[in-house]
Amino acid sequence: MSFLEALNWRYATKRMNGHTVPQEKLDTILEAARLAPSSYGLQPYSVAVVSDAALRNKIRGLAVPQPQVTEGSHLLVFATWTTIDEASVERFIEHVASERDLPLSSLAGYTDAIKSTLRKYPTQVEREHWASKQAYIALGMALAAAATEHVDATPMEGFSPEALDELLDLKAQGLRSVVVMAIGERDESNDSMTSLKKVRWPKESFITHT
Ligand SMILES: Cc1cc2nc3c(=O)[nH]c(=O)nc-3n(C[C@H](O)[C@H](O)[C@H](O)COP(=O)(O)O)c2cc1C
Repeated sequence: MSFLEALNWRYATKRMNGHTVPQEKLDTILEAARLAPSSYGLQPYSVAVVSDAALRNKIRGLAVPQPQVTEGSHLLVFATWTTIDEASVERFIEHVASERDLPLSSLAGYTDAIKSTLRKYPTQVEREHWASKQAYIALGMALAAAATEHVDATPMEGFSPEALDELLDLKAQGLRSVVVMAIGERDESNDSMTSLKKVRWPKESFITHT
């Protein structure tokens, strides 16, 4: 299946059949999320994988009940850091220096550039907004990877982030959930969306060329 065939095959699956996504496919999807580009490479977000069925049962009831949460096999929770400050930047720069075997001093300009971007977003609310835009890129990469792995997936904002954070104790981990993604296998006999034509704006209005 070509990349575009995979993107046409995928859809936001409403009903899943309980099939468990194999570990190697899950690993590929998570690795795609990890490899997503982010501003300066800071990655001010992470992914929590919920596979425990009892926990997913509780999550299903948070706000809009979404059967995919329990009918899938894993729920990927994309969460932004609740502290994005100069110390976070310094920790990141130390990581870069260590991974690339570089002296910290050679990264002074890089460090200043990230810190000056943070100064453009003085409040934590603004910083989390900045971080969440990047978390959505990781979500997109994970959705595309799921499609190429022939794994069904549903991106979902229809839940209460506060209730999910509480349930998963994310606040204590310095995280706040922004979007979740259920993965599993479509239940063709119960999902009325399976056979529907994909609807997108036509290329002529979506893309302009100059
Ligand atoms: C950020 C975001 C949030 C979404 N939230 C939900 C959701 O809570 N429940 C759901 O069933 N689908 C949700 N969707 C799926 C969209 O409705 C779906 O992607 C869109 O209608 C296009 O259809 P397709 O993905 O099947 O091609 C969400 C999609 C995105 C990108």
